[in-house]
Amino acid sequence: MVKARNQFVCQQCGAVYAKWVGQCANCQAWNSLVEQVVETEGNKKTAIEKGKLSGKKLDFVKIKTIVPSDAKARLVTEFPDLNIVLGGGILMGSVSLLAGQPGIGKSTLLMQICAEVAKTHNVLYVSGEESAGQVKLRAERLGADSDKLNFAASTSSNDIAKTIESGEFDLVIVDSIQTLAMDEISSAPGTVSQVTNSGNLIIRAAKATDTAVVIVGHVTKDGTLAGPKVLEHLVDVVLNFEGDRYGGFKTVRAVKNRFGSTNEVAIFEMTQDGLKEVQNPSAALLAERTNTDGSVILATLEGNRPILVEIQALATKTNFGYPKRTASGFDINRLNLLIAVLERRTKLKLSDKDIFINVVGGMKINDAAADLAVCMAIASVVAGRKLGEEYVVFGEVGLGGEIRSAFRADQRIAEAKKLGFRHAIAPATVRDKFVVPVKDLRETLIRYVK
Ligand code: TYD
Ligand code: MG
Repeated sequence: MVKARNQFVCQQCGAVYAKWVGQCANCQAWNSLVEQVVETEGNKKTAIEKGKLSGKKLDFVKIKTIVPSDAKARLVTEFPDLNIVLGGGILMGSVSLLAGQPGIGKSTLLMQICAEVAKTHNVLYVSGEESAGQVKLRAERLGADSDKLNFAASTSSNDIAKTIESGEFDLVIVDSIQTLAMDEISSAPGTVSQVTNSGNLIIRAAKATDTAVVIVGHVTKDGTLAGPKVLEHLVDVVLNFEGDRYGGFKTVRAVKNRFGSTNEVAIFEMTQDGLKEVQNPSAALLAERTNTDGSVILATLEGNRPILVEIQALATKTNFGYPKRTASGFDINRLNLLIAVLERRTKLKLSDKDIFINVVGGMKINDAAADLAVCMAIASVVAGRKLGEEYVVFGEVGLGGEIRSAFRADQRIAEAKKLGFRHAIAPATVRDKFVVPVKDLRETLIRYVK
């Protein structure tokens, strides 16, 4: 009789420990270890130890003769921008992971994709989360009524892989990986071993039959894929679905794509009849703008696309001696840094003020050139003075208060021109008549915040 051995596996990174510890030494996550039983098979030696290898010699081919996978068919969705994000559509035989917070619209987006693809291909939607009735209601609402669109409720990755392996379907949706369990493994659904092994099983079946598979993965609030970081390495494409769960814009971007660029982004809006792509996000974002103090228009980039967004700042007197800083859609550490630069390099006194930054429309700004706009918004609200309506702003702010260059200035300027702005307050390195060049934060604030 072999005694069952226990081990502890980090649910964030998959590191294995013999004993429980509070913090994973590999990924620094706290309280992430879960106990698992290792099924040891007695004293069975591995093939190498026995001096015999069970594998066979690989079949290899000349690279010259391989037909590139890009030449394979792609399943085109009804969303032009999403097709670009995917590199032209969902490639046959590819496995994609769609990751996002619960409630952001993953199931909705996939049902809409299914509706379109099922007009010409066999599609199977497998759900481990919702009943047939619930899925039917959504499908009806989204106008998915093709004969080729099928549904199955299952949480067994063995069954799902077997179904994929039958080759009956061109596209299979698995919603979601966190609900799947494999018969051979005893741990609960959603744990690292279940997610990895279920994922592997499905990927193997997909590759064997050239079936396109999209797997849904939930992410936790801080944006990490719940449990299965490992899954990101296994799949071909990782799509991140981000944004505000309640209204506002949502973005889909590829953080990994073996068959396309990762610079593109698709912008969506949730409506009564499902998700709609937003064709002109700048105009939509600026539509409700009222020019008050603390409001600055930033020319930023979402992937490869230039977008104008409004940055709003608010400042109130601190009540408890320790000033509070809050940012929505902007990195809080960056905000603290910019506040420090403002205090040190200009004469603004901010230590007695709570400061709030909001990026309008639920956008998340990840662009160094947003610095100047954030600084100007803060200065504007603190001074109670507006920035002229004709200006857009972009530029990075250095610790010395110097304004540094921003990449793709020409695209930002073109977008601003398109929307009727007359000037861009931008780094002096940009050569364009449209730009009023600035070099130093203090001078810029004195000149334009008035
Ligand atoms: P869902 O796609 O189920 O999110 P996820 O699969 O990522 O958890 O739904 C997201 C939200 O969208 C849900 O609260 C209901 C709403 N919704 C609409 O507003 N319009 C629609 O047409 C549909 C189908 C859903
Ligand atoms: Mg869902």
